[in-house]
Amino acid sequence: MSYVAINVLTVPEGAGATLEERFAARKGAVESAPGFEHFELLRPVEGTADYLVYTRWRSVEDFVAWRDGQRFADGHAGARPEGARPAATGSTLWAFEVVQST
Ligand code: HEM
Repeated sequence: MSYVAINVLTVPEGAGATLEERFAARKGAVESAPGFEHFELLRPVEGTADYLVYTRWRSVEDFVAWRDGQRFADGHAGARPEGARPAATGSTLWAFEVVQST
């Protein structure tokens, strides 16, 4: 069964566009990771102001190998303009096993 890892990003009011720009320029390194299945950046519409970074993997081992590997570092090495505030001020990891899927 697939494994879903969701990074929940706290984004200050008004910083959403900056966050989305950073993701638009993301490295795409995750796509080539063994066991990678799916990625989505989810913008909040109702019920929360958090952005979700949704990733789905063949197994938890594939996720952990990516998280602890060079591709994760590359994907998170996005340069910020000097003095710019980070687009996200906090993050929480949620993890799920896929029980059903269509
Ligand atoms: C330590 C807390 C984290 C923060 C603040 C964070 C924030 C970000 C940001 C701003 C980007 C856009 C690229 C950049 O500007 O560097 C990014 C890329 C990404 N993040 Fe995170 N992230 C964190 C940890 C994680 C974790 C644990 C996951 C696992 C679900 C994850 C999944 C991703 C993915 C898949 C990308 C795209 C990378 C690629 O294209 O290769 N992030 N993250």
